[in-house]
Amino acid sequence: MKKHHIDVLISEREVRSKIQSLGKEITEFYQQKQVDKLIVIGLLRGSFMFMADLVRELKLPVEIEFLTTSSYGTGMTSTHDVKISQDLTGDIKGEHVLIVEDIIDTGYTLDKVRAILALREPASLSICTLLDKPSRREVSVPVEWVGFEIPDEFVVGYGIDYAQRYRNLGFIGKVVLEDE
Ligand code: PRP
Ligand code: MN
Ligand code: MG
Repeated sequence: MKKHHIDVLISEREVRSKIQSLGKEITEFYQQKQVDKLIVIGLLRGSFMFMADLVRELKLPVEIEFLTTSSYGTGMTSTHDVKISQDLTGDIKGEHVLIVEDIIDTGYTLDKVRAILALREPASLSICTLLDKPSRREVSVPVEWVGFEIPDEFVVGYGIDYAQRYRNLGFIGKVVLEDE
């Protein structure tokens, strides 16, 4: 790991207040649709912290599920082939589903997950991501709720890792490489 430090990009307070407003918007959206149950699916591992905070702001009957994806590349060229390595426990056919993600970068993860879940015929399928890096997008994915649009920085914290580190930070930081 190169010598680096972490600068704050989005503070814990800013994250908290954004999640409160996202929670309000999402609650009102499903209340208007008179949805009596929402299945909220967190994509592991990155979304675990956002998921825990967001569902506390949803004033709706919710069920919690998690899905783990892994992406494989072959050799020199990455195929961006995203696979489900741990699936949901229940059926989502006819259910209202909200996917919760920490960050959308190239879009490959959410594009694949959305396609796989859509095949299971949920009543509705929406996405909420805390962070969006639109400048990095390679496949377009419809996203209903975005917390923050961010520039092309290497971000960590609040679930997001750099070589598996920093997921436990309460804020969103950016990795700053230092000259040796
Ligand atoms: C990261 C992040 C998103 C995905 C975004 O997950 O948490 O899920 O990459 O990138 P994309 O839009 O280019 O697909 P990662 O695969 O690193 O797994 P993790 O959640 O366990 O860190
Ligand atoms: Mn992830
Ligand atoms: Mg990761």
